[in-house]
Amino acid sequence: MEKQHIYITRKIPNELLQPYQEQFHFSMWEKESEPVPREVLLEKVEHVAGILCLLTDQIDEEVFNKAKHLQLVANMAVGYDNIDVEAAKARQVVVTNTPDVLTETTADLTFALLMATARRIVEANEFIKKDEWKDWSPFLLAGSDIHHQTIGIVGMGRIGEAVARRAKGFGMNILYYNRSRKMEAEQELDATYVSFEKLLTEADFVVCLTPLTSDTHQIFNKQAFEKMKQSAIFINASRGMTMDEQALYEALKAGEIKAAGLDVFATEPIRASHPLLELDNVVCLPHIGSASVATRENMIKLCLENLSSYFKGHGAKTPVE
Ligand code: DGY
Repeated sequence: MEKQHIYITRKIPNELLQPYQEQFHFSMWEKESEPVPREVLLEKVEHVAGILCLLTDQIDEEVFNKAKHLQLVANMAVGYDNIDVEAAKARQVVVTNTPDVLTETTADLTFALLMATARRIVEANEFIKKDEWKDWSPFLLAGSDIHHQTIGIVGMGRIGEAVARRAKGFGMNILYYNRSRKMEAEQELDATYVSFEKLLTEADFVVCLTPLTSDTHQIFNKQAFEKMKQSAIFINASRGMTMDEQALYEALKAGEIKAAGLDVFATEPIRASHPLLELDNVVCLPHIGSASVATRENMIKLCLENLSSYFKGHGAKTPVE
């Protein structure tokens, strides 16, 4: 059987590729911490049957037009807003993502971010490092309680449910808003389905875990932040484009909401000069939701399994839509 050509847009460990060397001829962008330049991507995809790409790569019309032999795009992420799925469909190119393998890891990080923001963990760490700790005092770095508060989860997919399970362990009251109702989650987790507006007005923690689509683009806008409680904490671990960053900045600065924990930004990476970083009540992370070594390896493995299964004629394991 002739080996299929696969282009990998970032350096990944050779030992993960090893089991597939018989089936594929791989070529790869050899840098680990730098995305492949656009012109290199466009050149490299010309003769390939498959691409293993990251969320930093825009796989759009231009790429599909170049990649005349392309059959499958394996995205190393559960979110796939970096891929023009309609353009892929029109050319019968299969797109796969990495659901399930990252659910618990991403939920851990989301809850860690919620806790760090509520209890001012990062600020407290900085406080000691800057040698500002002179004494114990009643309200020194006092934050917000988490236990028995109300969490509002926007986007009750797999990760939303996993966050809800953690919230249940903290005795939280769970509200959620989603495209469709999740009856099992309601039963298992005592989660209550509410409208987006009700969630915004009632939640102490508003947690965004919804995929980025044309419907969710900037759903967290000025009006949304205005509806939240003044004591509300906003957490975003999905995609930065779900929020209007300027509106968030203004809401935080004006004290319309209390704090924010962000793992994602409208344009990534952000620089140290980003306005949100001026604010003490914001905890920012560099999009590390799924970043445990084991999970990142599992995500890569799932991409490779998708490619392997598809090209053996057994179909992709986790195609999108
Ligand atoms: C995803 O998978 O979509 C995350 O944002 C990166 O792990």
